[in-house]
Amino acid sequence: MIEPGQTIGILGGGQLGRMTALAALALGYRCHIFSPDKDGPAKQVTPLATDADYDDKAALAKFAAAVDVITFEFENVPADTAEYLAALKPLRPGASALRIAQDRIKEKDFLRSIGVATAPYRAVGSEEALRRAMDEIGPRGVLKTVRMGYDGKGQMAMRAEMDMAAAWQSFGSTDGILEGFVEFACEVSVIVARGENGKIATYTPVENQHVNHILDTTIAPARVSPEVSMRAEAIAHHIAEKLEIIGLLAVEMFVTHEGEVLVNELAPRPHNSGHWTIDACYTNQFEQLVRAICGLPLGSPAHHSDAVMKNLIGTDIAKWREAANDPLQKIHLYGKENAAPGRKMGHVTKLTPRR
Ligand SMILES: Nc1ncnc2c1ncn2[C@@H]1O[C@H](COP(=O)(O)OP(=O)(O)O)[C@@H](O)[C@H]1O
Ligand SMILES: [Mg+2]
Repeated sequence: MIEPGQTIGILGGGQLGRMTALAALALGYRCHIFSPDKDGPAKQVTPLATDADYDDKAALAKFAAAVDVITFEFENVPADTAEYLAALKPLRPGASALRIAQDRIKEKDFLRSIGVATAPYRAVGSEEALRRAMDEIGPRGVLKTVRMGYDGKGQMAMRAEMDMAAAWQSFGSTDGILEGFVEFACEVSVIVARGENGKIATYTPVENQHVNHILDTTIAPARVSPEVSMRAEAIAHHIAEKLEIIGLLAVEMFVTHEGEVLVNELAPRPHNSGHWTIDACYTNQFEQLVRAICGLPLGSPAHHSDAVMKNLIGTDIAKWREAANDPLQKIHLYGKENAAPGRKMGHVTKLTPRR
């Protein structure tokens, strides 16, 4: 067990790292943040920091020597970095979960291999392959980069009548995946925590509404039937076991009008759709992550309040003032200075206590 007083290393200096560090500090741990930026959201809350690039081996070795366990707040940690660190200190979740979650084709191949349904998909590395894939799984699709996408970056909506040459040109990558467009009734996600001993704690499925491909609102619990909710939980549980996650796994899913549940993507880390748990659950996702990677028993993931979480994106950050007038809204700001369009600046969670 990693005991309070010992040090958790976190790769990544954004808001997820910040909120993980805050939860760890509350439990008496120290946190050391490794990221290229000097004053990101995470580095504002703890004095232990390394400012270096993710491929700086000397800095990584020093970081590993200074911490007792390592986790990460984003899944695009370079594979080399993950393997290098994992040889020096426990890396949780492990390098294999990362390898799968950072590659949309590996991810979907893996899901299919364990019997989990996804949208139809094809790897597309050329205009020719794109045409063929559109014929096979069109007439509507979403063309995505295989790696490094987030918040809808690197994605293009595709229609059969489009000029494929122009589309391929403007996509600008040769490493693509075409997914069939899913006419979903809603999007949901399930976050599970899995401890060292294999025990799993599951948060209730939540409903996610996106605007411009960026999460806008999370409604907890999701407004789906008990059957859909149970199926979504079972799928997340199954994936976490197969990946042997120690830590958190967020599973994004589409629910079709027929009540079918298709997995969209995986994130082996805290997730934006779990921010509501900070204020509405007995144990929030960040504390649960700390407990899992340190070998502590997991806390209760049950919620004492229903919640609606709204992201404050770009200049929306000004809305915190309005939220402050409502005694049942909880405000979380990430300490970012530049409110650029599309940038996640904070979130507010409106609570409705359950009776
Ligand atoms: N195959 C699809 N069919 C319909 N909508 C999609 C599809 N893929 C993505 N989307 C929409 O775009 C959003 C972002 O896509 P996602 O694959 O989750 O990438 P990101 O890594 O940017 O979160 C999804 O939450 C969903 O709203
Ligand atoms: Mg997503």
